[in-house]
Amino acid sequence: MEEIKQKIAECIVKALTEKLESGQTNVTIEELRDCLEIPKDPCNGDYAFPCFKLAKVLKDSPANIACKISSSIETTEEICKIEPVSGYLNFFVSSENISETVMNKILSEKESYGSSDEGSGKNVVVDYSSPNIAKPFHLGHLRTTIIGHAISNLYKELGYNLTKINYLGDWGRQFGLLIEGYNRFKDEYDIEKDALHILSDIYVRINKLAKEDESIMDKARENFKKLEDGDKDYLALWQYFRDISLKEYNRIYEILGCEFDSYNGEAFYNDKMDEVIDILDKKGVLVESEGAKVVKLGENEPPCIIVKSNGSTIYATRDLAAVLYRARTYDFYKAIYVTSYEQIHHFKQIFEVSKNLVDKKYSDGLIHVPYGMVRLKTGKMSTREGTVIYLQDLISDSIMKAERIIEEKNPNIENRALIAKQVGVGAIIFNDLKHNKIKDIVFDLDEVLRFDGETGPYVQYTYVRTQSILKKAGFNIDEININDINLKLLYEASEIDLIKELSNFEEIIKKAAESYEPSVLTRYIIEVASLFSKFYNDYPVITENVELKQARCALVYATGLVIKKGLSILGIECPEKM
Ligand code: ARG
Repeated sequence: MEEIKQKIAECIVKALTEKLESGQTNVTIEELRDCLEIPKDPCNGDYAFPCFKLAKVLKDSPANIACKISSSIETTEEICKIEPVSGYLNFFVSSENISETVMNKILSEKESYGSSDEGSGKNVVVDYSSPNIAKPFHLGHLRTTIIGHAISNLYKELGYNLTKINYLGDWGRQFGLLIEGYNRFKDEYDIEKDALHILSDIYVRINKLAKEDESIMDKARENFKKLEDGDKDYLALWQYFRDISLKEYNRIYEILGCEFDSYNGEAFYNDKMDEVIDILDKKGVLVESEGAKVVKLGENEPPCIIVKSNGSTIYATRDLAAVLYRARTYDFYKAIYVTSYEQIHHFKQIFEVSKNLVDKKYSDGLIHVPYGMVRLKTGKMSTREGTVIYLQDLISDSIMKAERIIEEKNPNIENRALIAKQVGVGAIIFNDLKHNKIKDIVFDLDEVLRFDGETGPYVQYTYVRTQSILKKAGFNIDEININDINLKLLYEASEIDLIKELSNFEEIIKKAAESYEPSVLTRYIIEVASLFSKFYNDYPVITENVELKQARCALVYATGLVIKKGLSILGIECPEKM
């Protein structure tokens, strides 16, 4: 918690300036505070200061610095023990005050606990989801949507001004082919019935034909040329493909609870690429290579193609135009792109070339967030083998299964359909965000829907338990004067462990945002839930002792609040009952 870190930083500065007479080091309290880490192993204290950060200014080894500071630092009311361990200074927070400090903060800040305003006045753009239109939304797009949504929420929580962009793949030669297929086969289908499956079916069919018959490819090229030149009928058709695609995607976005501020996709940049080519040319970095125009990127790197030898632009050219446009339009502090790791090379190139297009402050803010693949337990995902699982089916299955489980557990529950949706969708999101994002994940619906273990339903259920305890105890935070709660009564080991964990919420949000790693928050929520279970097993909440009951209820309330808010940042709703 910031307050405690502040105290620790003050102690260190005091030791440095008064005792070690190193006032000339000029390290500020703020700098020291930001260096404090939360040790993985609680044996190493509640906070640790890595002394190598001072090695340069103090011209000494981290181990020596740790020993010197620890012998001259004084314990305080808040910090009961300080230990030097291999170059780290470990701080142990006294449990006497921690209950009051942390709990008072949570109880007074309520829903805004964990938020901060460090990003105020700064703009962050997140480019995520971004499916290629006229194709169904499949499992592969699930990850970018879920991770991008969570990252947006994390930055929002830190006070940044967010612009969420769905950069639709809505341009390219394939639309020439699709138009050809559509014109040939449309009468065989009732498109409106299942537009995306039908369009992708048409695309697969025409693609096959084109392989056998070269003239179809010529026709497709011609079609796309017409489209590029703004042919009215072709544009209308393209618009139709885009509209029906978006309509279906929006159904999924609604289920997942995510929204976008802009759907400017690749097509939007069709008329904005000339300027990019012009700027690169004027800078003298655009060179001819085998008929194409490219930007060279160092000795052993392949060049970035800007204009192909046949005169057409590519995916990269449009992304460069988007960088330029977004810098001007959104004046971003960071522009974050969430895609699978297959595009690592693409973004490396784009970011490098962008240095020639925009100010350094913008090119420094370009960030690619790659993630791993999704595999189904039952087999690989492949269009060719016909085992593609569409997201829509997966979500429906998960909701149906959740409904069956809930029905078994609690047959008379009200709002069963809504709860099944919250649990079924939450389970999928939670599973996705539980692992380090670069790892490939395996999808096993039975596993993600388990009510025990590290799953969405488990933490949702923990939240529901907090609410039912509070209800049973008749505890309503809005009817209580916080000052009347005797928080000093929370001193048992499992209470303190839980409170300390709750105190880390704000830092966890910051860490997850800075590392673009929502799993930091997911794992934290699992930890809070498991510490809560331990506390609840160890001690009765509803006791005869009214004062104690109230203090423990306050802790139950605080736990519920952190779990619910944490899940909501991940994009997961919490049922009140289940
Ligand atoms: N449409 C691309 C795909 O489905 C992802 C686009 C990512 N964003 C970007 N600015 N390139 O693979």
